[in-house]
Amino acid sequence: MSEKIKSVLTDLMSAIQAGKIYTTSHPRYKDFIEKAYSSLQNILKTQKELAIGILDEEIASENEIFFDLSQKLKPLILYLQERNIQRITFYSGLRHNELSQFISFLLTPPSELPADTSGALIRWGIRNIKTGKIKAPSSSPKEMKSPENLSQYYENSLYFISRYAQSILKGENIDYMDLKFNTLNFIENFVGQYHQLLNLERKSENEIFDHMLNVCILTMHISSRSGSEREDVLELGIAALFHDIGKMSLPAEDLPNQSKVTRNKSQIQKNHPVLGAKVLLNYKESLGVLPAVVAFEHHLRYDLKESSHLSFPYPPHAVSQIVSLCNTYDHQASPRSPRHFNPPDQIYRFMSKEKGEQFHPQLIQNFFQIIGVWPLGTLVSLSDGRTAVVRGINEEDIFSPKVEVISSPEGKKFIDLSQTKDIRVERALNPRGEGKKYTHLL
Ligand SMILES: [Fe+2]
Repeated sequence: MSEKIKSVLTDLMSAIQAGKIYTTSHPRYKDFIEKAYSSLQNILKTQKELAIGILDEEIASENEIFFDLSQKLKPLILYLQERNIQRITFYSGLRHNELSQFISFLLTPPSELPADTSGALIRWGIRNIKTGKIKAPSSSPKEMKSPENLSQYYENSLYFISRYAQSILKGENIDYMDLKFNTLNFIENFVGQYHQLLNLERKSENEIFDHMLNVCILTMHISSRSGSEREDVLELGIAALFHDIGKMSLPAEDLPNQSKVTRNKSQIQKNHPVLGAKVLLNYKESLGVLPAVVAFEHHLRYDLKESSHLSFPYPPHAVSQIVSLCNTYDHQASPRSPRHFNPPDQIYRFMSKEKGEQFHPQLIQNFFQIIGVWPLGTLVSLSDGRTAVVRGINEEDIFSPKVEVISSPEGKKFIDLSQTKDIRVERALNPRGEGKKYTHLL
């Protein structure tokens, strides 16, 4: 299928380019339209619709992002971006003259196109092609410098996750391409900023969504830094995103006493991996089985203790083990109340005790090599009394990050603590408590 979609994309681009060179009555132009139409028919004879979309510099179908084609299809991407079109859907009733009209429509200069392209297409008699925007809470990384923007985008992302989680729980169809694009947006905007996000003022009332997003961000950070391809990072991110969906889904028949009133925390904790996997398996056609596997396994231990409920204990999938680490880290690091603060070195010691037991020894080592004992954005007090922010991690010495001193009267100064024996990090400061006066410098 992917090769067929690639043909559609390249043929569409060629038709647009031909339309710019020849008149629309020229036989060469007609040949290009014919070719694009037959590529589209090749797909639409077996499926109801084909959606393609653009986010930033990438072009994608609902099942794949064509990172390898980004350069080749650059003219098409730019062409559509100039016309404010992020998404095109072709439907199975597509007629030849509709495609031809559509290409003519795209050949209109951007300044002459109406803002509502979907409505304009109907006026042009094109009913089997729709254009629009991705329903993303879109914000480019350049726009996200201020904490207000980061906070707003984080809140928008929580809304997006809740919308998807609710749809999955109700068994509704989900827009997989929209989901992928939003998760791709998380990579662009949040990855590597997990600790900055923890410092944001929380407006959301549902901490499950906070947790799902945080675990998704951490998982993608770990996998991208471990060398995974971008598309695999995206797949892991989507699996991590829904790992706890079972906590929202407990139907009464799965609980003792057949009553919703009986729902309590320990039952939710016990049943949510199975319930989450059941719900996600309904989406194996679009999401694949990985989200269900991760939901089912994310509380399984590496040493397989406490696995007696399984008919035959087996080692959890590697992705489940990464999500398990990120899940535990986020439970430890997320502030449970405005004043709550669990220092990162304490979390490191707590989790390291489980090396080779709850957690795979190599994976946990890799995890802290990437995150560091003192993660990026942590506000710390140095042994010489100065206050600093962590700006870089030294993988070979996870206790000694690169820091930016922010309390010095001589102005800001960078120090690589792995290069000096005299100064070390003494402790982390709570950004909601004693460190609050420095948070504008984070
Ligand atoms: Fe969980």
